[in-house]
Amino acid sequence: MSAPDLKRAAAARAVTLVEDGMRLGIGTGSTAAAFVALLGERVRAGLDVVGVPTSEATRVACEREGIRLATLEEMPELDLTIDGADEVDGDLRLIKGGGAALLREKIVAVASARMVVIADASKRVETLGAFPLPVEVNLFGIGATTRAVEKALAEASCTGEVVRRHDVSGRPVLTDGGHAILDLRLGRIPDPEALSARLWAVPGVVEHGLFLGIADAAILAEAAGDEAVVS
Ligand code: 5RP
Repeated sequence: MSAPDLKRAAAARAVTLVEDGMRLGIGTGSTAAAFVALLGERVRAGLDVVGVPTSEATRVACEREGIRLATLEEMPELDLTIDGADEVDGDLRLIKGGGAALLREKIVAVASARMVVIADASKRVETLGAFPLPVEVNLFGIGATTRAVEKALAEASCTGEVVRRHDVSGRPVLTDGGHAILDLRLGRIPDPEALSARLWAVPGVVEHGLFLGIADAAILAEAAGDEAVVS
């Protein structure tokens, strides 16, 4: 069973949580894209929902599927957000931002009464940090901000390097908000809450990819023979 099959299985379970009339936050990434495709099928069969997309890529995908959209200005409170993650630990703490959408993803998740993570079970970890932690920073003063982030790491008992993200063509990645992404290659994050507080104290940091106390549940799919088992 391939990773896309597992992502689809998790997305299929998440679609069953969607009820008529719901205001939805809609995540970003390949697992969220599988959710959008399945949600589109239900919408075309008559389900009436309104979604707030967490990225321009998701907005385009939702429009293609005929999913009705709104902004958070028009609809500041949401019932349910479904989104992927790069890592999930046993306390439902997450690393997100592999797709550079962490700022909008966090705003949307926090505006939502419930956030459910969908992923293949390879995203489940004992300790966060093997996946590089994305930090979204303002372009102004990025050199100084990078230094300050390095200092914040030491203060939070983390070691590792801070690397500006580039795309496959070697161009610096810019988020939908026009900011840069620093990837923090740490290996492990012993105290995510301490690191979160230190990062937020750095001027120039717009948001970081630690989602702490935000997710309510995780739907994780793993292979058992030819079947996907979702838990
Ligand atoms: C985007 C994200 C994604 O949810 C995360 O990277 C997981 O992506 P995928 O479902 O493709 O594995 O945080 O910013």
